[in-house]
Amino acid sequence: MISDRREFLRSVSVGGAAFAWKYLSFAARAVGTESRIEILLDEPLGMISPNIYGHFIENLGGVIYDGVWVGKNSSIPHVDGVRKDLIEQMRLIKAPIVRFPGGCFADSYDWRDGIGPPDQRPRRTNFWENAESADSPASHKYDPNQFGTNEFVHFCKLIGGQPYLAANLRSLSAQEFLRWVEYCNSPAGSTTLSEMRAGGGSPEPFGVRYWGVGNESWGCGGNFTAQEYAAEFRRYATWVPRYGMDLSLVASGPNDDSWDWTRGFLEEILRKGPGELRSIYGLALHYYAWNLSRGRTRDWDEGKGDALKFDVVDWYELLRQGEVIESLIEGHWQVMGEFDPQHHIKLVIDEWGPWYRPGSEATPGDILEQTPTLRDAVFSGITLDIFNRHPEKIGMANCAQLINCLNSLYLAHEDNFCVTPVGHVFELYSAHQGGKSLRTIFSSSQVHYDRDGKPATFHGLSGSASLHDKELVLTVVNPDTTEPKEAEIAIHGATARAASATVLTHSDIHAHNTFTQRDAVAPKTGTLTLAAGTTMFAFPPASVTRLLMSLG
Ligand code: AHR
Repeated sequence: MISDRREFLRSVSVGGAAFAWKYLSFAARAVGTESRIEILLDEPLGMISPNIYGHFIENLGGVIYDGVWVGKNSSIPHVDGVRKDLIEQMRLIKAPIVRFPGGCFADSYDWRDGIGPPDQRPRRTNFWENAESADSPASHKYDPNQFGTNEFVHFCKLIGGQPYLAANLRSLSAQEFLRWVEYCNSPAGSTTLSEMRAGGGSPEPFGVRYWGVGNESWGCGGNFTAQEYAAEFRRYATWVPRYGMDLSLVASGPNDDSWDWTRGFLEEILRKGPGELRSIYGLALHYYAWNLSRGRTRDWDEGKGDALKFDVVDWYELLRQGEVIESLIEGHWQVMGEFDPQHHIKLVIDEWGPWYRPGSEATPGDILEQTPTLRDAVFSGITLDIFNRHPEKIGMANCAQLINCLNSLYLAHEDNFCVTPVGHVFELYSAHQGGKSLRTIFSSSQVHYDRDGKPATFHGLSGSASLHDKELVLTVVNPDTTEPKEAEIAIHGATARAASATVLTHSDIHAHNTFTQRDAVAPKTGTLTLAAGTTMFAFPPASVTRLLMSLG
């Protein structure tokens, strides 16, 4: 046990001089051991599905054309037309699954346009064309269909992840859905569609297991009522060809706290009997943190804040909005339980992240692109910790979106590429994938700040822990913009023999990476020398930390 501050200071041995200085000075400023983190090894919560760390790419703005797909004849480094930097980074974060092609785009997409010889594929008006500006390149407005099903599945193979396809329920028939499944999964040489797949370079079936049946069907996906959509879902989900494998169908779920959608959908599904629940793997919940108006408006455009220009109140406001997702998970889960007491159906949070007003695009003309800062890294850490704490409820989650859009892990334009602070968080948290989530108690003093002349508070440290055989992973977020938080970490039921810490932080809460300053925000790793069991750590202000501990 490290019993006093001098011992604690000595216990931190770090890799770089700047890192050492920073930590020692933080530790020296701390007033006492104000926080405590207790990890309960004998209280497992369930296995953290690797798919909680999933991604989302939509044919929208600069996501596909420029972001993912540069083309086979490009001078930009690529593998079979896919941006090489992106592949390398996604392998690093162990990207488990990618959702494509939307989003709202999915319900306008005809998958048949994206197969066959690329030079014979049609150009189509993109769903998002109305939102595009005069600066936007033609490929963003008029889809050239060069990145279709074969290219997407190949991209998933290159990164070592699985495909998750979102099918069009608004404007294509159920028969076309079944045929897309046939194109992807029918055995080599079995059907005309399997031969067409082979013509695109893939004789063997893709084995696509995850299928979304419509997207946001309460809105852009058809403007259905929950009951109307449930009837459509039943029709699309009936007798889908399996080709010897289990399919996991994801139903379009609620937006935010629309409990009525969850209730109305399940009620209608069950009118045909309890067996119908078996056809549904997951219910898709979408949640964006966008309203930074501090209660002044609920208007979608007026309520948004700026990605780069924000004050300390906006910082906490975004985190406060982000935390709402935990109550949505618990609330929808409870409603689902009224209809599905065994909880056969999981939550699939296939769109999440902050959404700011336009203006911070790294590439002018890329709609819905924004520049993620340290604030978004802290937001993402808090969100992923929430997911880790509900492993029995969440089957999958997909950050919106992977590149050049909203909560991007990466920004890219032509031969420029950078990892955002959000991308670094995904790298840190990848260590949780497949682990046993453990109940962990955080006792930490609240942050006090002034919210428009009124005193406000936000919680102190939060996080999650997972066990992987004898390796313990603990991730901790300190949301406080100015104060470090020194914590005693107690592991009930074991002793840590060795530990390392990786910290993502910056002295400026607005810090972000750009094409010219790619490492302004980057994680730093050091080792901790432990004494007699208890670990002490000073979590810097505005930081996301991962501790890896080997248990004895
Ligand atoms: O992620 C951007 C858009 O947000 C998606 O297309 C849609 O599903 C959601 O409203």
